[in-house]
Amino acid sequence: MKIVMAIIKPFKLEEVRDALTGLGVHGLTVTEVKGYGRQKGHTEIYRGAEYAVSFLPKLKIEVAVPSELVTKVIDAITAAAKTGQIGDGKIFVMPIETAVRIRTGERDGDAL
Ligand SMILES: Nc1ncnc2c1ncn2[C@@H]1O[C@H](COP(=O)(O)OP(=O)(O)OP(=O)(O)O)[C@@H](O)[C@H]1O
Ligand SMILES: [Mg+2]
Repeated sequence: MKIVMAIIKPFKLEEVRDALTGLGVHGLTVTEVKGYGRQKGHTEIYRGAEYAVSFLPKLKIEVAVPSELVTKVIDAITAAAKTGQIGDGKIFVMPIETAVRIRTGERDGDAL
């Protein structure tokens, strides 16, 4: 199992969620975050205005998936979140040691 963590532009959430649902992904965590990349936030446009600050609003999506699904999940997020402009975001993939569904005690693959 892997955690796929993606930092995306906020207005791309619905498209990304739809793409993940299409892959059979059953759960998703979304967090409002702020960050910057190579341009240090200075030259990006957010909602029509150039931000003078260094940190730009982004959404962090975290999805736990079976390892076999990771490539498809990366491809789906990339296709859905891409505008081609700077600031489209990043995807990071990390291993999961254990997953548990609290209600039932199911573990790992059964818990996703
Ligand atoms: N190295 C990093 N570590 C952690 N978070 C990052 C890193 N790079 C980017 N991010 C996060 O991703 C968001 C979007 O980054 P961004 O897409 O601007 O990266 P970039 O490398 O500058 O690429 P681009 O040139 O396409 O803008 C940032 O606001 C930040 O939240
Ligand atoms: Mg950038």
